[in-house]
Amino acid sequence: MPFGGNDYSSPSMLFRKGRVIDPAQGMDGTADILILDGRLAEIGAHLELSADRHAEVQEIELNGKWVVPGLLDMHVHLREPGEEHKETIATGTASAAAGGYAGVACMPNTRPVNDCAAVTQFIIDRARKQGSCRVFPVGAISKGLAGDRMVAFGELKDAGAVAVSDDGRPVMNSMLMRRALECARGLDLPVISHAEDLNLSHSGVMNEGAVSTKLGLHGIPNAAEEVMIARDLLLAELTQSRLHLAHVSTAGSVRLIRQAKQHGLCVTAETAPQYFTLTDNELMSLDTVYKVNPPLRSSADVEAVKAGLADGTIDAIATDHAPHTAREKDVEWGLAANGMIGLESAAPLILNLVRDGVLTPMAAIAKVTCNPAAILGVPLGSMFAGMKADLTIIDPEEEYVLDCFTFRSKSRNCPFHGRNMRGRVIMTLAEGRVTFARPF
Ligand code: DOR
Ligand code: ZN
Repeated sequence: MPFGGNDYSSPSMLFRKGRVIDPAQGMDGTADILILDGRLAEIGAHLELSADRHAEVQEIELNGKWVVPGLLDMHVHLREPGEEHKETIATGTASAAAGGYAGVACMPNTRPVNDCAAVTQFIIDRARKQGSCRVFPVGAISKGLAGDRMVAFGELKDAGAVAVSDDGRPVMNSMLMRRALECARGLDLPVISHAEDLNLSHSGVMNEGAVSTKLGLHGIPNAAEEVMIARDLLLAELTQSRLHLAHVSTAGSVRLIRQAKQHGLCVTAETAPQYFTLTDNELMSLDTVYKVNPPLRSSADVEAVKAGLADGTIDAIATDHAPHTAREKDVEWGLAANGMIGLESAAPLILNLVRDGVLTPMAAIAKVTCNPAAILGVPLGSMFAGMKADLTIIDPEEEYVLDCFTFRSKSRNCPFHGRNMRGRVIMTLAEGRVTFARPF
């Protein structure tokens, strides 16, 4: 145990000289943080411990390491119920804790689909018993994700769902999408759109461009994403509801969302590290670890996604953690499953944006804390005294080679395995418990 003798379930700790970054209160400076019995007791310069506290409080020198609100990933696939060979709520949330996350929102494409209160309740119960972070279920828009009959959103919300989405599939029927936006508005639930026109993506298995031509593989044009984003923006305007666009990957999508925001629409958007880090050039290896939907795009798209992050067009960074076993990946390109795991590689990739001057530290942290928390309306994303401690400690400078075989996730489909990383999660506290700690 790296913090010998300490109680991991309701710890008392004094972190000395951290760089405390809390965008929710505009804070970025050196401070001490006192945690008593799992609660954030005080943040301030040079905190003193009373004599009677010395024995029970563990003092940890941070020397400028970052202390940020517990990270929130608003888009993961936990695979339970139904595909426990890929991931479970226990392994997925342990993976989240190791990645610095104190909370995740999980998508409904499980088996059975999360389209009724019983499944939502099952996820919440299991997370409470076996989870290493908070879990916020996202309910389905259509029954069985089949795209025809709408789910009873009120029932889902009452059971604890924080949003609705058919993620993994688009809602192709525009009338259904309109009705979904209207119903969700009445319940103040955001609608998360997986924007893809299936007629345009059709038989495509990668991005359409020079690389797909070289490889002789069917391409998915940027327009497959963009026409659906345009449709959803128009429907959000019509219905005046809260639309959130998942995994934004193209320059045209960024442009459309930027214009919509300028126009005053209540729209938000997320991207994932693969879309600001990797391009379709990686596919020259034909390694199916790079197969994901939406697909890895061109360097021009990567630059546009970064610009969208920089100017606030893209509010949040999620991972779209999508575990698959080797069996689903070690097959020819066309047959391989779409998806990458992301929870245990996200933090250093987000820090690259800071080093590259795309985001300030405060803006980068906002995209994984208060911004997604505000979109989903969940109690995470800030560090105020009195709250149960949800916080993450990051060493922004530690350099290492990423080894996905050390991950807590059950799956190994990580495209960053073997790459040099800079920045590492040192400790995660969720709901007042230490859920992850590395010796340092
Ligand atoms: O690559 C993906 N994997 N994209 C999706 O939309 C779904 C996800 C999954 O569930 O595996
Ligand atoms: Zn997804």
